[in-house]
Amino acid sequence: MSTINRNAAQLRATIVGNKLVGQYHQILISVGDLVDKCKPGNFVAISVGGDSSKMILRRAFAISRVAQSTSFGGTMELIVAPHGQGSKWLCAQPEGAVIDLVAPLGSAFGIPTEPVQVLLVGGGYGSAPLFGLAEVLKSRGCKVDMLLGASTAGKIYAPMEGKRSVNSLRIYTEDGSMGIAGKVTDPISQLISDLDVAVIYSCGPMGMLAAISAITADKDVVHQCAVEESMACGIGICMTCVLPVRNEDNSISMLRSCIDGPVMDGSNVLWDLVGKNPTVTQ
Ligand SMILES: Cc1cc2nc3c(=O)[nH]c(=O)nc-3n(C[C@H](O)[C@H](O)[C@H](O)COP(=O)(O)OP(=O)(O)OC[C@H]3O[C@@H](n4cnc5c(N)ncnc54)[C@H](O)[C@@H]3O)c2cc1C
Ligand code: FES
Repeated sequence: MSTINRNAAQLRATIVGNKLVGQYHQILISVGDLVDKCKPGNFVAISVGGDSSKMILRRAFAISRVAQSTSFGGTMELIVAPHGQGSKWLCAQPEGAVIDLVAPLGSAFGIPTEPVQVLLVGGGYGSAPLFGLAEVLKSRGCKVDMLLGASTAGKIYAPMEGKRSVNSLRIYTEDGSMGIAGKVTDPISQLISDLDVAVIYSCGPMGMLAAISAITADKDVVHQCAVEESMACGIGICMTCVLPVRNEDNSISMLRSCIDGPVMDGSNVLWDLVGKNPTVTQ
């Protein structure tokens, strides 16, 4: 039986940086020793709107990376798209603002025991946790190549320092405004055989994750994806975030992506049934 991440803690934390990078806000939060508990793939649930807010549900954001700084101690970085009311509120918070958060939540990306070839695939702000992951993979001797994609240039998040943590980075935009014109999934099949990829790590829109799972279905490649199903409670209580997953005995389980994920084995997720009732559809 899955449970909430046992390292999760609730704390009031100070925003120590908030800058615009393309269409995203790069938000830095001082979280002290909590950084030691956060792993690539984990997410944070943030209370939005202030003390008298009508927005009662916390909002989920991937932890982009954690670091130790001399000025602020342990810091957690988030890459936030000002999307609806809650994320716009967070993006409008100035340095010095205190927010209420719960972290780390959810599962983390598995790190190979051998120094293998890996491919990281990020869609939009989905690239955020992949740069921190790349640093861990490189430190374990893996060869790390990366593909980033988005509809247009402003939606690509590719920090300069992040580019140094990968062997190669290719960018794809659907309108051709940056990098190669096309979808980020276009070159994956070829790269798997050219580079002899052992593991693909992906994070981005559900359609992109489903497309990668379809590509890897008949290949000897592990696909670890960080899913982004809508979440209400974020701690395993409400069942808002369930995803249909095929078990070894061919039965279907509805797993809660907030505690059984967000990192899941893409080959087990029944992508065609996401958002449907499998007992009715089957
Ligand atoms: C694991 C995870 C990681 C994410 N990482 C990032 C990230 O790094 N950067 C980023 O910009 N965004 C990220 N998101 C998306 C982000 O959580 C949403 O964009 C954000 O919640 C939007 O909040 P809002 O108030 O701006 O939008 P609104 O659309 O106004 O509100 C959305 C909120 O409504 C609630 N909700 C949605 N669907 C339901 C439902 N079916 N039942 C009940 N309540 C529901 C949820 O609390 C949700 O957060 C991530 C989401 C998940 C699940
Ligand atoms: S968001 Fe409530 S169970 Fe996952």
